[in-house]
Amino acid sequence: MTFFGQLGGRVVGAPSILAANFAELAEEVRRTARGGAELVHFDVMDNHFVPNLTVGPAVAASLAAAVDLPIDAHLQVTNPDNLIPAFVEAGVVSISVQPEVVTHLHRTLGMIRAGGCEAGVALNPTTPPESIWWALPYVDYVNVMSVNPGFGGQAFIPEMAEKVRRLKEMTDVPIQVDGGITAGTAPLMVEAGAQVLVAGSAVFKEDPASGMRRILDAALASS
Ligand code: DX5
Ligand code: ZN
Repeated sequence: MTFFGQLGGRVVGAPSILAANFAELAEEVRRTARGGAELVHFDVMDNHFVPNLTVGPAVAASLAAAVDLPIDAHLQVTNPDNLIPAFVEAGVVSISVQPEVVTHLHRTLGMIRAGGCEAGVALNPTTPPESIWWALPYVDYVNVMSVNPGFGGQAFIPEMAEKVRRLKEMTDVPIQVDGGITAGTAPLMVEAGAQVLVAGSAVFKEDPASGMRRILDAALASS
């Protein structure tokens, strides 16, 4: 299955499990699916690239076996190459890495694709889009981080809408946006060209089905 390759022009919602109740993770994901979610955003943090620590391949494998939605792993870790085989084995459909800490990005993206997953790059707010120009033939999606990676619930950085616009001039691959996405900010990103809306706290601070639906309704009204 190629989630990003089959997206066409659609705008979709991807709940970030970072803000979910981990004690009932599968049910939390099912709740978001009832609100229209199509992809699970699985944030992996190592207390090194970012100060936070989350979950790894074992949890991804359990979740993949328990829910119908495809899982996208966002590796906010210093050494993603060490983890890619385990996430492939876990059954995720796509994996994004942070180019700021990957020394041999071409090789890393190749590892992801060789495992049968789609390969993404996730850009820190101050990482220039131009820095991934030579990687674009090996990329299936770009994640524009609209907060600094590490935590949910941070304030949206408005300049990131301009970064989405710049990327749309550079490439046809789908743009994912991640950080501070709400019913208020999602339309700005969709107008700029974003198609995959990652949202954590805005989805899970209320009934997750309603939270997801609220963001999608606002986004689709603007697209
Ligand atoms: C931040 C993560 C995000 C985070 C977004 O490092 O990559 O996916 O969960 O959370 P909100 O939507 O609360 O900003
Ligand atoms: Zn993320």
